[in-house]
Amino acid sequence: MNLPFAAVEARAPGKIILAGEHAVVYGRPALAVPVFGVQARVRVTPAPQAWVHAPAVHLDAALADLPAMHPLRQAVERTWAALATRPRPVRVHIASTIPVAAGLGSGAAVTVAIVRALAAFAGRVLPPEQVNALAYAVEKLHHGTPSGIDNTVITYGRPLVYRKGAGWELLQVARPVPLVIADTGHPAPTRDMVAGVRTRWQAARDRYEALFDAIAEAVAAARHALAVGDLPALGRALRANQRLLQAIGVSSPALDTLVDAALATGAYGAKLSGAGGGGNMLAVTPPEGQAAVAQALRAAGATRVIVTTLPPTEAA
Ligand code: PMV
Repeated sequence: MNLPFAAVEARAPGKIILAGEHAVVYGRPALAVPVFGVQARVRVTPAPQAWVHAPAVHLDAALADLPAMHPLRQAVERTWAALATRPRPVRVHIASTIPVAAGLGSGAAVTVAIVRALAAFAGRVLPPEQVNALAYAVEKLHHGTPSGIDNTVITYGRPLVYRKGAGWELLQVARPVPLVIADTGHPAPTRDMVAGVRTRWQAARDRYEALFDAIAEAVAAARHALAVGDLPALGRALRANQRLLQAIGVSSPALDTLVDAALATGAYGAKLSGAGGGGNMLAVTPPEGQAAVAQALRAAGATRVIVTTLPPTEAA
């Protein structure tokens, strides 16, 4: 007997922002890279009724019982609409190893994987621009006023320079960049952090615009350092970026502790990554220094440490 539709699975990586978060919401460029060591995995199977199962967030419910604007419901419904096909009763099973509310792009990755899995279930492949647009629409439900950087880096799965409204360019990386990513274990609610910056920007526009310009300079320095393979210069740029993130009020004592621990153990540079307030920080280390920095971060209280290396981009 032929089953009408086969089960399908799709994946999307996590991401980390190397430099430029928050200022990117105000039109400055930011650098982001995919992190393939963590991922969202979505499995779609035929079912008697539309269903969503996301054990990581303790969700096991009929799609119709979720609030109309629930991001997962919206991801499913918008994808069927984009496919211009009648919604099929499927069970959407979400298994993500990307920590939630930690600055690693879990929301965007889940959406991208849902979009790809439903498209595959319908026997279709949506072009990346369309996947990205759907993920951006759902990001708005999660975060209010997202810049679009998360959904873009996760959809394309390449290191990129992102500028709101102007799209993205491939980020040139001349040599492997050893990274250590460490979680404070405190949630980083992106929506609240972005709203807090907006309130302070409204109260002191000139000061905040100058800070965003200074962040853009740090981003330019980091971009140049990556292009020429100068890890110490990259570290200096990230340290400058962290001081500016402190100045706009998005670091936290736990983030500062981890940043200091990484620098004290020989990291070239370290900074919070993503919305801040909690969530993750990252350190750029000498190639032989990753293990010691990872160890120091655990000792300083990190609840989860990811050791990874950003690979060089192929020469054009
Ligand atoms: O989702 P997170 O925590 O990586 O934060 C996104 C980065 C921000 O610049 C703070 C917000 C945005 O939309 O770009």
